[in-house]
Amino acid sequence: MERETACVHGTWLYDKTTGAVSVPLYQSATFRHPGLGESTGFDYSRAVNPTRTVLEETVALLEGAKYGLAFASGMGAVSAMIKLFPPHGSAGGGKTRVIVSEDLYGGTYRLFHEYYARYGYSFSWIDTSDPAKVEAALKQEAAALFIETPSNPMMKVTDIAGCAEAIHRAGGKLIVDNTFLTPYFQNPLALGADFVIHSGTKYLAGHNDTLAGFIVHSGEEANPALREIQKSEGASLSPLDAWLCLRGIKTLALRMEKQQQNGGIAADWLRNHPRVERVFYTGFKDHPQAPLSARQARGHSGMVSFYVRQSALVEQVLKRVKLILFAESLGGVESLITFPLVQTHGAIPETMRLSAGVNDRLLRLSAGIENAADIIADLEQALE
Ligand SMILES: Cc1ncc(COP(=O)(O)O)c(C=O)c1O
Repeated sequence: MERETACVHGTWLYDKTTGAVSVPLYQSATFRHPGLGESTGFDYSRAVNPTRTVLEETVALLEGAKYGLAFASGMGAVSAMIKLFPPHGSAGGGKTRVIVSEDLYGGTYRLFHEYYARYGYSFSWIDTSDPAKVEAALKQEAAALFIETPSNPMMKVTDIAGCAEAIHRAGGKLIVDNTFLTPYFQNPLALGADFVIHSGTKYLAGHNDTLAGFIVHSGEEANPALREIQKSEGASLSPLDAWLCLRGIKTLALRMEKQQQNGGIAADWLRNHPRVERVFYTGFKDHPQAPLSARQARGHSGMVSFYVRQSALVEQVLKRVKLILFAESLGGVESLITFPLVQTHGAIPETMRLSAGVNDRLLRLSAGIENAADIIADLEQALE
């Protein structure tokens, strides 16, 4: 089945009893047992819910995985993922060590640094787009390598296959946050990754109307443990949110194509604007890792970051934009603009933020599916 078809139909064509084309919303917390010791396969929605199951199978299908697990948010998925690696192991001086891309979503940094670091984990932050730094970090034992590619917000590209080979040699697992490209443009498991994470809130659901997160993988041993974490912690995705995600995914292919197109138009336009100093976009032919992008991904998202020439322009742009909404998040049908320094990356310490390039002149645009001319006209009047 081709990707576009898989987006529309997933693992569901129609309801076998009623013929319903849309997956029914099973808004039920609990399910009647047919008898003592008997189950329909659905007992309680924190553990399993029929609507969520179809969504989990659909996302797994899109990623070429055996298993999918849906969580209440991307952070819920990241948190469950880390718990798969038992804390207080022998690695990293008595702690379970995870190597992480230094240029990544600030909420992931906060979760790791401010919470898990207290509970038996240690984190090494490196520029994973540099293979020499990955090799150097692996000289010490590590349970996992967690990468975001393209990175958020600097659009650096990390070699997924190279990282998989390196961490496997060291006996660890590779986790890839595939939120920016989605399975429509990139399939990390096919490149050797062990686990894929998604903030389903973004492109997958696609309408800025729900939060969701996913872990997708094919690990026979890991799956029961991950299910146990999902069920025990209770951060499973609600039926309604699962239904919204399923509906969103139906148009993923169309949206990704249009958002990629709008992102490219905006990136080219911004690059030629006198008040813009530099633009970061993985679709540029002269992006430093363009050949790697072409090898491991089938396209680009609508994500474009850029430095304006003076920091005062940031406030001006954020105040003046009319159509493009000044809001956190990305990937939805509405164009959004974000100031990573204080929003998405506010939790990251200043030195680390600055070394990654997140400064007071950086803005991040998530191109939506509007007419590109309207997006450009809005940027033009905002930058004037
Ligand atoms: C790349 C990436 N991963 C994970 C997350 C967390 O997802 P959520 O906001 O759904 O918890 C985000 C949120 O912005 C993100 O951008």
